[in-house]
Amino acid sequence: MDWGLANRIGRMFSPTSGNTVMLAVDHGYFMGPTHRLEDARATIAPLLPHADALALTRGILRRAVPPTATTPIVLRVSGGVTVLHEDLSHEAITTSMTEALRLNASAIALSVFVGAPHEHESLVHLGDLVNEGETAGMPVMAITAVGKELEKRDARYLALACRVSAELGAHIVKTYYCENFSKVVQGCPVPLVVAGGPKLDSDKAALELARAAIDEGAHGIDMGRNIWQSDHPVAMLKALRKIVHEKATVSEALDVLATEKNKRTTTTVPAIA
Ligand code: 5RP
Repeated sequence: MDWGLANRIGRMFSPTSGNTVMLAVDHGYFMGPTHRLEDARATIAPLLPHADALALTRGILRRAVPPTATTPIVLRVSGGVTVLHEDLSHEAITTSMTEALRLNASAIALSVFVGAPHEHESLVHLGDLVNEGETAGMPVMAITAVGKELEKRDARYLALACRVSAELGAHIVKTYYCENFSKVVQGCPVPLVVAGGPKLDSDKAALELARAAIDEGAHGIDMGRNIWQSDHPVAMLKALRKIVHEKATVSEALDVLATEKNKRTTTTVPAIA
């Protein structure tokens, strides 16, 4: 792996645990002002110091994150369809490699829609971005099974989507946790990170999901709603870090959550020009 590419990946994954806690705040690109992400600046500011990477679009990066931030950026570069459309798979590449380099992204991310009407286009986009990424030293993260594709969230489907993504050259694959998740991991030769999906019934359920995913071989999480839709987002992020980086049990992570949620923190929301 070329030095630049390896360096970018190395800044997102801890050298000690080998894992990463990415914070996903890219939902607005097709869902609009998602609950508790309406004011992205206010949502992101207190969480930023506790994330190993921030996954978002260029619009929110420029408007909601100060350029002095040192957190690695995973820039979503695919889009062009909204929740109002029946077929979510009709995405294009909406942000160029030049723009990703200009924004000093540590990785770029796109959705791949295996089994959907626009499967072919999304996989060709992945291949094209990997070609560009290898030249530019930019890692590419393939995001499997988003939106309506989530209906097919079983190990057989996700193993197929993740393996195909890795075969086409993705350096990191983001997917969803499922029963028999270890089968998904076994078939995928690149690091897998796990999204949380829609808000679960409790913080505990999200911690359990993270614990199970790590136990079964995930290299971290790229989680959104189960963090910033929690009533205690910072405490939740810190509890997840204990699991992902420090091998904490769910019960230990719940202790962190209980301690942290009673702490009063004040965050200055940065004004951005
Ligand atoms: C949206 C995404 C999200 O980043 C991904 O789903 C992670 O967020 P969440 O944990 O809320 O599912 O890719 O298309």
